[in-house]
This record gives sequence, C-alpha cells and structure tokens, in this order.
Amino acid sequence: MITKHVIKICKGPACSQRFANDIRRAAEEATGEDETIEIRTCGCRGFCEDGPTVVVDDVVHSHMSEVAIVGIITGIKKEKIT
Ligand code: FES
Repeated sequence: MITKHVIKICKGPACSQRFANDIRRAAEEATGEDETIEIRTCGCRGFCEDGPTVVVDDVVHSHMSEVAIVGIITGIKKEKIT
C-alpha cells in the first residue's frame, strides 16, 4: 500500500504576500513525478502572523521557506526508501 503525503500550501492573503507561490513552485519541483506526494493549496489556517504556513500531513509548519519545504519533501522521500 502506498502512503500518500498531502502538503497544503496556504493561499490566504497574508501567506500569498509572503511568497506562497514561490514555496509551491519549490514544492512541486522537489516532488517531481512522485505520485505519493500531493501538493494542494488551502485557505487561511489562522496562523497569518507566522506565515507563510504549510500543512504537511495535518501538521502545521509556520515561517515556511523554499529551502524548508524542499527539506521536508526530501525527508519524506528518504523515509520511503529506508
Ligand atoms: S493567510 Fe495563511 S495562515 Fe492566514
């Protein structure tokens, strides 16, 4: 059975102003063709002051950056290999 990881990138107004689009682009590039990782957008999660906000498998990550999301996705991929 393939585990599906869901990464939701907040597209609310505060997170959008803090470059959520760049984070999504970095996430999509890091994911590549891996069909076990799904990138979605979501509405405001209520953590606007700590944005940009990303939810990875129901865990909220604040102050997200392109480097951080790539690190998370790399970690998910390594986890599946071992
Ligand atoms: S706009 Fe992203 S948490 Fe509110």
